[in-house]
Amino acid sequence: MSLSIGALHLPSLVMQSPMAGCSDLPFRLVARRRGLAFAFTEMVSAHSLVRRSRKTLALLRTVPEDRPLGAQLLGSDPAKMAAAASMIAELGFELLDINCGCPVKKVVSNGEGAALLKDPDRAERVFAAVRRAVDIPLTVKTRKGFQDESGKEAVELARRAQAQGFDGVIVHGRTQKQGYGGKADHEAVALVRRAVSIPVIGNGDVRSPEDARRLMAVAGCQGVMVGRAGLGNPWLYRELHRALSEGEAVGGGEADGRGAARLCAALLEHFDLEVEFLGARQASLNIRRIGAWYACGLPGAKDFRVRICRAQDISVTRRMISDFFASLPARNREDL
Ligand SMILES: Cc1cc2nc3c(=O)[nH]c(=O)nc-3n(C[C@H](O)[C@H](O)[C@H](O)COP(=O)(O)O)c2cc1C
Repeated sequence: MSLSIGALHLPSLVMQSPMAGCSDLPFRLVARRRGLAFAFTEMVSAHSLVRRSRKTLALLRTVPEDRPLGAQLLGSDPAKMAAAASMIAELGFELLDINCGCPVKKVVSNGEGAALLKDPDRAERVFAAVRRAVDIPLTVKTRKGFQDESGKEAVELARRAQAQGFDGVIVHGRTQKQGYGGKADHEAVALVRRAVSIPVIGNGDVRSPEDARRLMAVAGCQGVMVGRAGLGNPWLYRELHRALSEGEAVGGGEADGRGAARLCAALLEHFDLEVEFLGARQASLNIRRIGAWYACGLPGAKDFRVRICRAQDISVTRRMISDFFASLPARNREDL
C-alpha cells in the first residue's frame, strides 16, 4: 500500500511526525534503518530561517540516507513564509508542511501555530503565498480546533488549504487547549476527510497496529502519522506499515517486549550518531532524554536516567548503556 501526496509517492502509509527537540537527524537515521519510509525534521521558524540563523539551518541538516524528507515551517507572515518556503525547496526537501497546530503559549500569542485555526483568512493568505513560491508538495498540519471541540475549525483550514492548491492535510485530533493530554479524537479526522478530496493523514495516539487500523477505519484517512510512540521504538513504523498493508500485527509494542539486545544496540547507534552529527557535548546532553525513551518501562529505568545524567565522557556513557541492558532480568533480555 502506498501514499501519494502531490508528486511524492511513498511506499508506506506511515509517517514520522515532526517533533521539536526529538526528530533530529540521528533519530531519523535510526528509524530509517529499521523501516521508516518518510520523516520530518522538527518545525523551524520562517523568521529565523530567512535570517539564515545558524541554529535554524542546523535543524534542517540532512544526509542522502535521510530521504525522502519533509520540513515544517512555523510562521504567519505570508511574505516571510513564502521566502522561507523557497529556501526549503532550494535545499531539496521533498515536502513542506505548514504548522497550524503548535499549542505553545509563546507561539500562539505570536499568531503562529495553532493560532492560525482562529484566523483562517490569514492562514489562507499564508497558503496562497507559499503555493505561489514553490512547486514541491505542500501539506498543512493542524489540530481539530483551537478551543472548539467540533472539528469545524480544522475542516475550515483544510478546505482553504485545498483551495490554494495544497496536496494534503495532517490532522491531530486534539484542540490547542488540550495540549498533549486527553484522548485524540479520530472522528475529527473523519470530518476533515469527508470535507476535502486531497489526502488526509490522521495523527494522535497511534501506538500499536490496532491503533493504526482503528484510526484508518474510523477516519477513512489515507495515512497515519506517529509521534511520541516512535521515541525509543524505531521499529514501530515498519510494524505499523506491515499491519496496514498486510493486515498482520508484527511483534509487540511494549518496551520490555522489544528485547534488551535490540534496544541496547539501537540506543548505542543513536548515541554514536548524536556524537557524529552534533558533537560529544550536545550528545551527552541529549542522551539523558534519548536514554529515557529506550529505557521507559524497564526495571531500573529511573536509576539509569539518574546515572546517565552524570556521565561526562562518551566511553562512560556507552558502558552505562551496555551495563544497564545487560543487567535486566532474563525476561527482558529475550529477543523477539
Ligand atoms: C516533544 C514534542 C515536540 C513536538 N514538536 C512538533 C513540531 O515541531 N511540529 C509539529 O507539527 N508537531 C509537533 N509535535 C506534535 C506531534 O507531531 C504530534 O502531532 C502529537 O504528539 C500527537 O501525536 P502522537 O499522539 O502520536 O504523539 C510535538 C510533540 C511533542 C511531544
